[in-house]
Amino acid sequence: MRTQVGIVGAGPAGLMLAHLLHLRGIDSVVVDLRTREDIEHTIKAGVLEQSTVDLMTETGVGDRLRREGSVHHGINLAFGGALHRIDFAALTNGRAVTVYPQHEVLTDLIARRLADGGDLRFGVSGTRVEGISGDRPSIRFTHEGSEQRVECDFVVGADGSHSTTRALIPGRADLFREYPFAWFGILAEAPPSSGELIYAHSDRGFALISTRSPTVQRLYFQCDPHTDPGDWPDDRIWEELSARVAGAGAVVKTGPVFQKSVLRFRSFVCEPMQHGRLFLAGDAAHTVPPTGQKGLNLAVADVYLLDRALAAYYERRDTSLLDGYTATALRRVWRAQHFSWWMTSMLHRFDGTNDFDVRRQLAELDLVTGSASAATTLAENYVGLPLTP
Ligand code: DHB
Repeated sequence: MRTQVGIVGAGPAGLMLAHLLHLRGIDSVVVDLRTREDIEHTIKAGVLEQSTVDLMTETGVGDRLRREGSVHHGINLAFGGALHRIDFAALTNGRAVTVYPQHEVLTDLIARRLADGGDLRFGVSGTRVEGISGDRPSIRFTHEGSEQRVECDFVVGADGSHSTTRALIPGRADLFREYPFAWFGILAEAPPSSGELIYAHSDRGFALISTRSPTVQRLYFQCDPHTDPGDWPDDRIWEELSARVAGAGAVVKTGPVFQKSVLRFRSFVCEPMQHGRLFLAGDAAHTVPPTGQKGLNLAVADVYLLDRALAAYYERRDTSLLDGYTATALRRVWRAQHFSWWMTSMLHRFDGTNDFDVRRQLAELDLVTGSASAATTLAENYVGLPLTP
């Protein structure tokens, strides 16, 4: 079999790229170890930057997002006994974020790819990428019991944080920071506790009140990475969340918890993001801690660049954008790494945090909510930088 672009991974990066390329008439094949069912039902994060929403809308995959997503024009930071609002609309010229779960984005992209006749192979095994240093790379895999080999012009490794394609980049540097904590995340049947997200600093550690719909809420609290969700009955979860936001005057509305998980917390960047005819995109190349919601949005930003770079190659045999992909992508990646680390460091309790550190965090939060220029920095980064190289 032959295709133009072989894509390993049917997550946000892989599926969005296949969709963008299709709109230009460039063929792709997408393979993934997971089943379609798994991909469409795994709960991930849920906040889309303005430019992600715009790109989905402009490319015809934003209808359900527009109907069912909820637009947020600000967030609240809870600290020092009060809620402090960051007004995105006022600080960023009307930009906003949209709460719409990642698995719904994937569901929409899969439906669109299939409607457009796209080649998506779910539940494959033994995926192997070969020949990336030459001009005929290929992907081998087993699908529905038969061995397949797809010859490609280019391969995109969009296979997530446990990427195997990343290992094919010789001499790469893996830059990372581990954090001594994790997030306990829940989904609950409950009314919203707040009209906008609340990021809370407290003596007991960080908490985040988010939402999914008028009847389903998403909440998180900082925990030890070894926490066993089994040790946390609903009452204990609600007490902990409540204790972390009550000081700021927020009230958590409770209800049955139907999903509990502990989310790993890591900052990671692979440099370079390419070798020969292999290009990495999304979590395969970089992982951000969840604070500030950059993961899916960075994946989309990567493939926005790759789409334009591949178009330049196919339309004019111009390889300059492909050659410059790592340098262009890494600029945004490092801005997002800094932002996610900054939000994390300002709001979480670290091992060995003492009163000095707490007062310093409170002063930083005071700066961010009290100074228009500092608030603008937070708002601009939260709603996301524009998608121009
Ligand atoms: C959500 C997750 C985040 O990491 C965040 O910063 C905001 C919201 C969410 O899943 O809703």
